[in-house]
Amino acid sequence: MQLLTGMQPRLFELTEAQQLVRDTARNYAQKRLAPIAGQLDRERRFPAEQLAGLAELGMMGVNIAEEYGGAQAGAVAYALAMMEIAQGCASTAVTMAVNNLVAETIARHGTEAQKRRYVPEITSGRYVAASFGLSEPHAGSDAAALRTTARRDGNEYVINGSKQWITSGDRAGVIIVWARTGVEGNRGISCFLVEGGTKGLHVGRHEDKMGLRASSTVSLSFEDLRVPASAMLGPEGRGFPIALGALDSGRVGIACQAIGIGTAALDSAVRYAKDRHTFGQPIANYQAIRFALADVATELDAARLLALRAAALKEAGKSFTREGAMAKVFATEKANKACDTAVQVHGGYGYIDEFPAERHYRDARITTIYEGSSEIMRIVIGRYLLAH
Ligand code: CAA
Repeated sequence: MQLLTGMQPRLFELTEAQQLVRDTARNYAQKRLAPIAGQLDRERRFPAEQLAGLAELGMMGVNIAEEYGGAQAGAVAYALAMMEIAQGCASTAVTMAVNNLVAETIARHGTEAQKRRYVPEITSGRYVAASFGLSEPHAGSDAAALRTTARRDGNEYVINGSKQWITSGDRAGVIIVWARTGVEGNRGISCFLVEGGTKGLHVGRHEDKMGLRASSTVSLSFEDLRVPASAMLGPEGRGFPIALGALDSGRVGIACQAIGIGTAALDSAVRYAKDRHTFGQPIANYQAIRFALADVATELDAARLLALRAAALKEAGKSFTREGAMAKVFATEKANKACDTAVQVHGGYGYIDEFPAERHYRDARITTIYEGSSEIMRIVIGRYLLAH
């Protein structure tokens, strides 16, 4: 029985390895993350200890080969893990997501020396974080308009420019930096592996964000930063397809992050609805509340299926650009709705930090913006509709 295009029946039945990864992530998220997520958020405290704990469990390279220190559990297992971790703490989840994204990008496009040098550092947690340096102050959605340059000088490249919205940019052991080595447009872009602490790398402003406050988001600037020519990742001038391919995967991860946040919001709304009494009975007895919660549960389940379909296609080595974009736009928008509903169910208590609903609401908000906004997702899906 094949219910969705490209999806194997096995998708409905997780393998033992996938269940193990999901259960391990769930256990850690519920015991070690959920109880302190509110405090981390209030104190804007980077979850270094928690990330180290996750690295020990193999969560920094779920879809990375064992020979590079990964768990080699596949893209579906990673999607399941991300949903669980985000349910516990969305800030920890985004940091984990970017670490996995960078590790996968290097594992996919790196030379053997690059893979051996960087991937085990990320998967083991020896690098607490890794960063994806694509966006710039003037180039977000239009990523190919980036202005950072890398000029060849003998056996080195000299990088100048700046990056914006870089998750973990101040903590990263390695940063993938996209820079212009040639002509205008996407064919003049290459990417480089820049180590944290390299001379000429400056960490700028720490953004004071609406949500995901325990994650770190900074701007970076490069002032005559030198890297050896061997630091180039992939062929010269082909950095942009590397970025878009990586973002295909990243978007499935963010869909899963959103599903985790939405599920946490739904759980808290259900708990509250059973507990809170008005007019002599729990508000959960009212159809207005039940219908709202039923819609959220249905939409989050649909999002889960879309995300797992995209992950299953990726695991099968098939194209999943369209399916990943569908998963992201749907999951992130439904997660925002779930969080909005959860705040409404909580009434005034949803607006204060005594309950987690307001944090979920703030955390979910970025998911329709980063790693490709909802508008970009619709552009990607629309292109497929018209071209295929
Ligand atoms: N995978 C691999 N290669 C791809 C690809 C994909 N999914 N999609 C396109 N390409 C290739 C194309 O084949 C093309 O190659 P050629 O030049 O050889 O033909 C090249 O990449 C350029 O493709 P397009 O012409 O389609 O590129 P475009 O400029 O029209 O891209 C866009 C349009 C899809 C909107 C793209 O700019 C885009 O996705 N923008 C959003 C950027 C984004 O998501 N930024 C997120 C920042 S990261 C972040 O938020 C991280 C964080 O820390 C949380």
